[in-house]
Amino acid sequence: MKRASMKLNVLIAISSAILVSCQSSTSVKSNDVEKRVEALLSQMTLEEKIGQMNQISPSGDVNTTAELIKKGEVGSILNVADAKTINAYQRTAVEQSRLGIPLIVGRDVIHGFKTIFPIPLGQAASFNPDLIEKGARIAAIEASSVGVRWTFAPMVDISRDPRWGRIAESLGEDTYLTSVLGAAMVKGFQGDSLNNPTSIAACPKHFVGYGAAEGGRDYNSTHIPERLLRNVYLPSFEAAAKAGAATYMTSFNDNDGIPASGNGYILKDVLRKEWGFDGFVVSDWASVGEMIAHGFCVDGKEAAMKAVNAGVDMEMVSYHYVNHLKELISEGKVKEETIDNAVRNILRVKFRLGLFENPYVDESKGDVLYAASHLEAAKEAAIESAVLLKNEGSVLPLGESVKTIAVIGPMADAPHDQMGTWVFDGDKNYTQTPLKALESAYGDKIKIVYAPGVSYSRDTNTGGIAAAVRAASSADVVLAFVGEESILSGEAHCLANLNLQGAQSALIEAVANTGKPLVTVVMAGRPLTIGKEAALSDALLYSFHPGTMGGPALADLLFGKSVPSGKLPVTFPKEVGQIPLYYSHNSTGRPFQGTETMLQDIPAEAGQTSLGNTSFYLDAGNDPLYPFGYGLSYSTFKYDNLKLSSEKLKEGDVLTVSFDLTNTGKYDATEVAQLYVQDRFGSVTRPVKELKRFERIALKSGESRSVSFSLPIEELAFWNIDMKKVVEAGDFNLWVGGDSRAALKGSFVVE
Ligand code: NOJ
Repeated sequence: MKRASMKLNVLIAISSAILVSCQSSTSVKSNDVEKRVEALLSQMTLEEKIGQMNQISPSGDVNTTAELIKKGEVGSILNVADAKTINAYQRTAVEQSRLGIPLIVGRDVIHGFKTIFPIPLGQAASFNPDLIEKGARIAAIEASSVGVRWTFAPMVDISRDPRWGRIAESLGEDTYLTSVLGAAMVKGFQGDSLNNPTSIAACPKHFVGYGAAEGGRDYNSTHIPERLLRNVYLPSFEAAAKAGAATYMTSFNDNDGIPASGNGYILKDVLRKEWGFDGFVVSDWASVGEMIAHGFCVDGKEAAMKAVNAGVDMEMVSYHYVNHLKELISEGKVKEETIDNAVRNILRVKFRLGLFENPYVDESKGDVLYAASHLEAAKEAAIESAVLLKNEGSVLPLGESVKTIAVIGPMADAPHDQMGTWVFDGDKNYTQTPLKALESAYGDKIKIVYAPGVSYSRDTNTGGIAAAVRAASSADVVLAFVGEESILSGEAHCLANLNLQGAQSALIEAVANTGKPLVTVVMAGRPLTIGKEAALSDALLYSFHPGTMGGPALADLLFGKSVPSGKLPVTFPKEVGQIPLYYSHNSTGRPFQGTETMLQDIPAEAGQTSLGNTSFYLDAGNDPLYPFGYGLSYSTFKYDNLKLSSEKLKEGDVLTVSFDLTNTGKYDATEVAQLYVQDRFGSVTRPVKELKRFERIALKSGESRSVSFSLPIEELAFWNIDMKKVVEAGDFNLWVGGDSRAALKGSFVVE
């Protein structure tokens, strides 16, 4: 039983203490920087201050942009990514504007700059913060070499709807996983110090709630009440603040009627006051002006007023600040102090980045782009991002008996599409596709017959399927590379139907009918409803869009040079109609039992009854196609001997959960062990389980290891009935295992 009087009201104080101690040195105010900010601010005219708050995307004539920069009308540019042009604009700012304030140059460096890593959703499947930090570091090294010192990443929107195209950019559905991995990305981008010329400022986005867009339609409204916001959607942004993120970006959505770029509660009370953030906030592209279309502002002037008063320091591209702030100040609708604070926030980040000391880059330093070590890291990331979903009869890894392979499917040799969404700078000529990688690694030993069947994912022309079937019939095994072109996911690319597009399903069916072993590899930006194709395949490997080095990574996995270790960072539904479907849902009053009568089992003319009913779909049940955290290996693992350091805990205690993990299979392999906890009774209903810890553990075949997770009781805190973050005393369950259906169970009590 929960005893409300025994709440451990630890938390606000502790979290502020942690906040201060965890912030990287880059975001702790240094006197030196503050003095320089004040000195510069005191020399600035109002126009120059407003200019710092303006971000433009140069288009057309270079001289027109240079004129604006010279006048001090521009604080930042985006969408320029070559060293020569960036240096030229920077020279104009530093050498020709009155105060010589350098520009901060932003770019969407989302999963690599030139060397493209797997899409973020794929990287999240690695459950490996070190790998993610390394990928972000490499992206920063490459981007900063051309003068880009600010990326619009990581995207830490909790994403529970695969119809939403931007799920590809996310780190999945889980608050804890996204928090850990998002913080790792921030650290990778920003390095040890922002001041290092290879560091780029991170920009956690989209603040906040964007991933919960109604119906999975981009830009749509969200309806997230404060408790859900605080328990599920805000923690990943707070973790990014603790990791020292230098900037934040507002989102396009209105939540409960308030557009994010006009939401002072989130931008001021939460971000600045509660989390102590002292960098700057940028609006998303034209989202200040879009508050007019939202019906939240009548014109650009009101939009500028609401955004700046809410705490948006820099406006991305819509020019309402430049056009209206001066007048708004003269009318007393915006205080000059508000402008000063916004400019302080922007200048602080520019000083921290060392832009005043090092505004230019060495234009001859292109050698870091696609460096061999970067390609190797991208390959490792693609290996760890792939999730083995099925492997019947251990068809994988392919062995020496394989003499002829049929390679089919539109993604087998699609250098542009395997890079995925949000690739502005990656060059497809550097992409290594599965077909090319297989030919180069095995072409001298194995006959590889390539017959794509359809030429791109949406291709409905079935004319090529016969050739693919002929290739399959002549082969020992069929490798089918299917999925989505890169343009089918990402911003504004939402789908109502998540089946394989075009004639791909017909292709799979036709080659499956040959009876040859069928290995299906899916390259996609989101979970697809691939139950039918999974059933037709002997093995199913989900690589998401794996990036530049996807081909060699998949070749290694298919032939067993590497063993799959990825786990799903998002639930895969069987049917679109099940969405939203996520493992960490609240307990209902009528939980699904798994023994319900399904649609076809209901007798004709059955009478209505409300007895014994539960929350489920008559036709699809409640089970997903694959649950969160799921992923097979070529090996197998056993979890046992669960021990808890104590079954009764109190404020300040740390629970140690230990268990034995054994590699019971034939291959040396890595398992992602996961710890889930359920707070059984609360002052508000609580999730059926929540991920609290995970760790990648490499074990030799036959090896056994004792693994332990430490969980401070404070991490069981949640925003409760009184909208306070507290640990409530009471009963808890926990599970350890290899996915969210983990069965090894224990329980404890917080007194
Ligand atoms: C709009 C997108 O929503 C955002 O994520 C991106 O960073 C900006 N455009 C800049 O390209």
